[in-house]
Amino acid sequence: MTTKNSLSKFLAQSGVCSRRAATDLIKSGVVKVNGKVVLEPFHPLADDDSIKVNNKRILPEQKLYFLFNKPKDVLCTLSDTKDRNTITAFFRNIPERLYPIGRLDRNTTGLIVMTNDGDLTQKLAHPKFNIAKTYQVTTHKPVTDEHLEKLLKGIKLEDGYMKVDSIRHTSLHSKHIVTLTIHSGKKHIIKRLFKELRYFVEKLDRISFAGLTKKGLEVGFFRALTDKEVEKLKKDFSEEKKPAAKPALKKIVA
Ligand code: URA
Repeated sequence: MTTKNSLSKFLAQSGVCSRRAATDLIKSGVVKVNGKVVLEPFHPLADDDSIKVNNKRILPEQKLYFLFNKPKDVLCTLSDTKDRNTITAFFRNIPERLYPIGRLDRNTTGLIVMTNDGDLTQKLAHPKFNIAKTYQVTTHKPVTDEHLEKLLKGIKLEDGYMKVDSIRHTSLHSKHIVTLTIHSGKKHIIKRLFKELRYFVEKLDRISFAGLTKKGLEVGFFRALTDKEVEKLKKDFSEEKKPAAKPALKKIVA
């Protein structure tokens, strides 16, 4: 079920024109709802309302959701002044305008969701909607167990204390690679955490995003999310993450 909200928002979301232009269009008297001219941009809509502009029926834009396995050297911006590779080039055969949910650095590889669902991408801008992401991090020197502990406990960065939800050495053979899960979506968060502990991140790969994994998805390829996956993603974004409860203080009896 789609929520159309107000008439102007519906016209903008359906790709007719921008929100501001929709207001002018409505006021000019060419927009009809169920056969009647409506001049009020905030006119509320029901799901089964029929909307026409100049007597042409406007249907809601289909919402699309893709999971993309981003290669290295690809920017998550929509266009680049220096003509570097951008994520949108991979979606050139999809006519809808797609946006990434969040960002990965140019040299980070791995999973990113692309969508034309503006509500969902906007929600992500709010910190309370942070969701779980798992990264594989390769560092220039072995990561000590003491530093794994520090990352779990929290590290002071310029924008506050940050910690990972879980972390482990990925392989028994090399301590250069760790797998960690984090909720924060702050800019360069992994590189900043490791820099604070004097490690240089040589490779960063996002291997899971909101429970979605790379299974069957080669680098540089994308797939449509299933209805079930979209439902789960929306649910994850609609649930406010509450801060973890502080451990109760032990009463020390002398
Ligand atoms: N943290 C980083 O430092 N870079 C990314 O691309 C993602 C998370």
